[in-house]
Amino acid sequence: MIYLDYAATTPMDKQALAVYQQTATNFYGNTNSLHDVGNKAKEVLDYCRTSLGTLLHTSPNEIYFTSSGTAANQLAIQTLIQANKQKGKHIITTPFEHPSISKYLDRLAEQEDYEISYLKPNEYGEIHLKDVQDTIRTDTCVVIIQHVNPEIGTIQPIEDIGAWLQTQGIRFHSDGVQAFGKILTNVKLLHVDSYAVCSHKVYGPKGTGAFFLKKNMVANNQYDVLESATIDVPSIAAFTTAASLAINASTSELDRMRNLRVFFVNELLKRKLPLQVFTSPNQLPHIIGILFDEMAGDYAMLSFNQNGVYLSTGSACTVGNQEPARTITALQVPKEKAKNYIRLSLGNATTKKDLEKTIEICENILNKWKT
Ligand SMILES: Cc1ncc(COP(=O)(O)O)c(C=O)c1O
Repeated sequence: MIYLDYAATTPMDKQALAVYQQTATNFYGNTNSLHDVGNKAKEVLDYCRTSLGTLLHTSPNEIYFTSSGTAANQLAIQTLIQANKQKGKHIITTPFEHPSISKYLDRLAEQEDYEISYLKPNEYGEIHLKDVQDTIRTDTCVVIIQHVNPEIGTIQPIEDIGAWLQTQGIRFHSDGVQAFGKILTNVKLLHVDSYAVCSHKVYGPKGTGAFFLKKNMVANNQYDVLESATIDVPSIAAFTTAASLAINASTSELDRMRNLRVFFVNELLKRKLPLQVFTSPNQLPHIIGILFDEMAGDYAMLSFNQNGVYLSTGSACTVGNQEPARTITALQVPKEKAKNYIRLSLGNATTKKDLEKTIEICENILNKWKT
């Protein structure tokens, strides 16, 4: 089997799994309990908060744990909006945010009269600072731009956009779920007010996320609402372990991924297959978006599946939704053609041999499809 869907989710790291088991066995208390068992669990939680704060280059009192990347995005954005109500009801974002954001914004527009402006990307899927500057209004309360695109891997210039928004006093949220553990996610250098991450993209357990929220964003008495559930300390301990391992390995993994991508794309192009690969100057190499000239993405995905290769037709959380990937339509690819898109996403177990085999299978699928 060849698993090429790491941007959807990753298998759990063995060390993180061991940490989960030890924490669940030895530190099972409720962190809100005032007895010693609760206090011991609280100590582990505090340690994890400090660790994650260090990984994001910020202090523990700016870190909030959640039950997913989805919850992290929504809680962070909701908090920024609530804190800036007096500014107005205009929000700026991209047309390809993850559904945890886009659907939330649709609801704000439909039910609470917010006005949403969508920034146009260039041909590589990049958002330009100039476009953000041209779209800002006096009633803009928040700007929301993902750090790394989950469908073609484009890295957005968050640092530049954040630095400028800071000078204007406009709040800025970035979805860092696909960036965290892969590239530098120093929230101070990114100049964001909030930043969402999640565990299951970095070899941690599913159902755990976190967000950075700059201090002084809301009144002190509102902060404890952000983490009011019984906290899943074992998952958080496993998450911070996995995240720390991923970040330690990120420089060498990035190099390895670059080499694998170059090999894969060159081999594909050599064979002159009827497809194109989405390439952009600022891109995470492990996400490889492909658009077939004619073959439908879901046909390709199922054919790969029959051959033991597991990849996707879009961002994982939109499975069952037959709509084309939104990043691809935002790149001006007609809706029908955009359905010919598939995504391969490589991970720490991917080898050159896996990719050689995948290319061979791809060629066979295309040959079979033609007949
Ligand atoms: C960019 C991005 N943001 C947010 C999420 C949601 O994370 P979670 O699955 O933890 O809710 C995903 C998941 O695919 C994602 O790719």
